Amino acid sequence: TKVFPQPLVEIIFRGVVEEVLPSLREQSVSVFVLGQEEQEEGGARVEGVKTLSSGKIQQASDQPLDPQLRSKATIKSPTLYIYTSGTTGLPKAAVINHERMTLAASMQAIAGVTRDDVIYIYLPLYHTAGFVMGLVGAIERGNTVILRRKFSASQFWDDCRKYNVTVIQYIGEIMRYLCNTPKKDNDRQHKVRLALGNGIRADTWSEFLERFGDIRICECYGATEGNVGFVNYIGKVGAIGRENFIHRVGNPYALIQYDTEREEPVRDCRGFCVKVPKGETGLLVAKISSRAPFSGYAKSPQQTERKKLKDVFVKGDQYFNSGDLLRIDNEGFVYFMDRIGDTFRWKGENVATTEVSDNLIMVECIEEANVYGVKVPGHEGRIGMAALTLKDNMEFDSKATYEHVKTSLPSYSRPRFIRIQNSLDVTGTFKMMKVKLVNEGFNPSVIRDRLFYLEDKEGYIPMTQEIYSSITDGKLRL
Ligand SMILES: *[C@@H]1O[C@H](CO)[C@@H](O)[C@H](O)[C@H]1NC(C)=O
Repeated sequence: TKVFPQPLVEIIFRGVVEEVLPSLREQSVSVFVLGQEEQEEGGARVEGVKTLSSGKIQQASDQPLDPQLRSKATIKSPTLYIYTSGTTGLPKAAVINHERMTLAASMQAIAGVTRDDVIYIYLPLYHTAGFVMGLVGAIERGNTVILRRKFSASQFWDDCRKYNVTVIQYIGEIMRYLCNTPKKDNDRQHKVRLALGNGIRADTWSEFLERFGDIRICECYGATEGNVGFVNYIGKVGAIGRENFIHRVGNPYALIQYDTEREEPVRDCRGFCVKVPKGETGLLVAKISSRAPFSGYAKSPQQTERKKLKDVFVKGDQYFNSGDLLRIDNEGFVYFMDRIGDTFRWKGENVATTEVSDNLIMVECIEEANVYGVKVPGHEGRIGMAALTLKDNMEFDSKATYEHVKTSLPSYSRPRFIRIQNSLDVTGTFKMMKVKLVNEGFNPSVIRDRLFYLEDKEGYIPMTQEIYSSITDGKLRL
């Protein structure tokens, strides 16, 4: 990354805006450039762009705007577009209307955040977590926001101490990044009382509490564009929420059987979906209704239709397909199992990638694990592969990894190939990216990283061109 001096940044963005200016003008969009004085002319000004100097802002009225300006806006009007991160499929703009915005922004209130709290926001503001739940939520509460440009594991707790932070947010792999930093004497010296977010795994959860003290973790679940959500109010370790009756009535949802091979829900003889029994993993779908609407994606009816599932339990009904595999236990606690694109099938069995990576990171030398399935010529389904990063100054311990994998995972879900990386690719919201890895497969002449192959008797041995050829030739059956 390059740090440009200020004027250069302006020129870069200006160029981008200039390119689309004619079409913006056609749509009567006003474009402003911030922090430029009117008199500063001569080349710097762009035709059709108004300047917005601090002087002008000072002069502007602080009176409420004329309500007439928003007379056409309703609770269902779009308020912003949020590009979903595209962990599976292409990024697309989810339409967030005022109703969704208000609901998502009330998460802080639901979690018990008060106006006296100080919340630390370091997540990108182009996503729901940082912007809606964080910033807009703080405006709703009236509390103090500490805004940081970028997440830093090493600065995290120093920031919390310096600014008396009481509420933190987390997402994706963040909590594990914090647990992976070197232990310090002052790990428990801070005022953080509440962590609000999504995606913490059970083992990280316990480790986090043990290390950083008594912090209430409020795990919640919901997709940016989704119409269903859960909140784990009571801090049950590992759960993303708990079912409740009122919730189910207002917003009917179900976990249904999913066929990983055919990549579609299982249908019964009448063509309807099948609910999974309590305690089993199923695809979460939520009924689309006026109370639980699905606004879809901007200018993309095709993508919008693809997220809808029809004729689920009766002819003509419509459900939002969350793409997530969940499990609900007898007490009603809801657990995240995997994303449907991530779970793959090998030897007729489903392999949940999150379960495998949770297992791998228990091996002493392994810091992070990104698990996915790769295609093998002449074989059905996909075979397990893992991209790993190692802890500082540690070597890949093939023996310990093999022993662990052998005792904790059934043979079909043991990663057959392992590649060692210096760092794992993550999205802007710290979710692991798999698509590129899946496409690269396990060919040693393509992959520059160190590559290992699980040999049935010997364990993980270095992958060679010879092994690769015998697999692709079909001489070596996996
Ligand atoms: C943090 O709290 C301490 C003690 O209550 C106070 O002295 C200090 O000024 C506070 N710091 C900030 C940045 O508000």
